[in-house]
Amino acid sequence: MNIAVVGTGYVGLVSGTCFADSGNDITCVDIDENKVKQLRDGEIPIYEPGLKTIFDRSIREGRLRFTTDLEEAVKDAEIIFLCLPTPPGADGQADLSAVLKVAGQLGKMITDYKVIVNKSTVPVGTADRVREAVAENTDAEFDVVSNPEFLREGAAVEDFMKPERVVIGTSSERAAELMTTLYEPFVRSGNPIIVMDERSSELTKYAANAMLATKITFMNEIANICEKVGANVDNIRRGIGTDSRIGKRFLFAGIGYGGSCFPKDVQAIHYTAGQNGYDFKILDSVMKVNEKQKVSIVKKMEDYYGTSDFSGKTFGIWGLSFKPETDDIREAPALYIAEELVERGAKLIAYDPEAIETFKKATTKEVLDNTTFVLNQQDALVDVDALVICTEWNEFRRPTIDRFQDHMKKAVIFDGRNLYDLNRAKKSNITYISVGRPSIN
Ligand code: UGA
Repeated sequence: MNIAVVGTGYVGLVSGTCFADSGNDITCVDIDENKVKQLRDGEIPIYEPGLKTIFDRSIREGRLRFTTDLEEAVKDAEIIFLCLPTPPGADGQADLSAVLKVAGQLGKMITDYKVIVNKSTVPVGTADRVREAVAENTDAEFDVVSNPEFLREGAAVEDFMKPERVVIGTSSERAAELMTTLYEPFVRSGNPIIVMDERSSELTKYAANAMLATKITFMNEIANICEKVGANVDNIRRGIGTDSRIGKRFLFAGIGYGGSCFPKDVQAIHYTAGQNGYDFKILDSVMKVNEKQKVSIVKKMEDYYGTSDFSGKTFGIWGLSFKPETDDIREAPALYIAEELVERGAKLIAYDPEAIETFKKATTKEVLDNTTFVLNQQDALVDVDALVICTEWNEFRRPTIDRFQDHMKKAVIFDGRNLYDLNRAKKSNITYISVGRPSIN
């Protein structure tokens, strides 16, 4: 099939590349000339495991092209994917200006039947607004479809190639058939393509992310209670996760959820509910609890040291990205933790396998002035008063624990991701303070 993908951000690039890999002809469009040039030169601006291999192959075999010319890209396309930014506006609602602008332009360009697909996460009712914006400028036949993506950063290629489900929101049979044909190669294992109306499809995306954010937050609150009553959240996780109605996944307590999706989507669905006269109380609590959870580790450090004055102390930080296998630091707990520690007078030595540069761009001047960035995990231990673990990169899971004693002033670890087994930590003679588990002193 001939497909145009408008927007070469994270979603557009992953979708375009993966569609090309299943044999389609893809033209990706972006208004950013430098980005298009970079992509044409074979450079991918994001870090995503597995993407480069299929990107290179699709380009080599001529199925993946990049242009700044929207008209050229959509001329022969049967399906046009809109993968455009929808940043949160001041009121918490997604800003649709980029999507509606392109919809208007498409109206002026299309002359034969097209399926126009919203792939970005957009508020309920956006398909109708896109339809109106296109229709204003054309008499050609077209359908607007909602097709939310459920990709996880760091596993996006895997998620795209083998989705647990594909959701297609359209009331047009013609569009549903084209979309189903496009997605069939990805669900050969029998996973469903679920066709529904546009509004339900738009809301499905928010409901999924809000449910997952709530699940994590619930476990974080259980962890907070564990700390008060002397229980261990690992045991609770195993004890409840084996109930298939609850499920084993997404039950890991820690220092809160971050990223570009959960925080934004929880806020957006909460706002949509409010706009429609419904007070979505549980999500209000989720947002408040998560905000506190992100810096809960700093409170534990204050309790340990018996003061909120950290001047004269240096802390090592392992992990800056909001989760492993990405350089994305949006809403990353490490950003907030670093700020709080520096505000209390501490100096930091920070290490992350991928996210140092993105972190530097996003953090404050105060943090930059008081942080040394190092290129391996060991260097972040040298002469520090304590280590703070903010992201569960695999390489942090099995360090030789004894080395903590060798390098650090004192082997004290504040672990926001519960990486180490408590019995092992006990034997190693370290001070180990984690989330929802008894502290080891
Ligand atoms: C999330 C969803 O998982 C995807 O399905 C969705 O497509 C995507 O948002 C999106 O809307 O685009 P992502 O933000 O990449 O994906 O990251 P996740 O792996 O879901 O993790 C989100 C946050 O939850 C991270 O901060 C992670 O550390 C935290 N988390 C996750 C926990 O604290 N505990 C867990 O058990 C799981």
